[in-house]
Amino acid sequence: MKKNLAYDAYEELADLYAALIDTKPHNAYYDRPAVQSLISGSIEGVKILDIGCGPGVYAEWLAARGAVVTAVDASDKMIEHAKKRVKGKVEILKADMEEPLDFFADETFDGVLSALAITYVKDHSRLFAEINRVTKKGGWFVFSTEHPFFSYRYFGIKNYFETRRVCCDWDGFGKTVNMPSYYHSLGSISEALSGNGFVIEKILEPKPTEKFREVDGHSFEKLMKFPLFICFRAKKIEHAR
Ligand SMILES: C[S@@+](CC[C@H](N)C(=O)[O-])C[C@H]1O[C@@H](n2cnc3c(N)ncnc32)[C@H](O)[C@@H]1O
Repeated sequence: MKKNLAYDAYEELADLYAALIDTKPHNAYYDRPAVQSLISGSIEGVKILDIGCGPGVYAEWLAARGAVVTAVDASDKMIEHAKKRVKGKVEILKADMEEPLDFFADETFDGVLSALAITYVKDHSRLFAEINRVTKKGGWFVFSTEHPFFSYRYFGIKNYFETRRVCCDWDGFGKTVNMPSYYHSLGSISEALSGNGFVIEKILEPKPTEKFREVDGHSFEKLMKFPLFICFRAKKIEHAR
């Protein structure tokens, strides 16, 4: 398998990420409550694919609620951590979401989740077409990613409409890692959904929880005024062309 864009960065970060993810405020008290609110109701027996699962926090949460979960990630170390965490209750596979997910038959899953991972894929349309293929008609696709308005400002983007590679230093995990990703406009994300058989049911611009305020008041105040992430819930209404 060829190395995906963020492979080296996540191999370097995986141990720290896995150690901190349960309580790291931006994940535990900002991203996860928002994404989880988009998967409400019973998921007992529901077949769910978690793409870009990292150390498996979401996969574990889904499985604990009775879902039948398969989780994939491209990082070898993240996969090891995910396997340790889920203790055999979730099938964990190595896969690159830049590539076709050929090992899944058409319409295998009732729902697909991807938290903070699609930003590493340049061509959302190709990825969403593949997610459409493996999702049953009427099934859902829930994901979170960087808010385009945040990235536009943070990376000093000159052309709002152009998808482009960006990178920055991450130092929130105890060491500095240069993290590459792609900037996408809001319209391009929306087009990749509607052009591939999905209809957007909900867009959520999350707010941090009270627990976030307790542990990091400064970032809490910033996030109450400007979004860092954006979350979508979409429904598959037809097969992608
Ligand atoms: C920010 S982490 C999110 C992990 C997890 N979803 C969570 O919220 O805790 C991003 C994950 O996406 C994975 N990833 C990045 N590019 C990928 C690709 N092309 N295919 C599969 N996984 C990828 C990384 O290895 C990493 O585990």
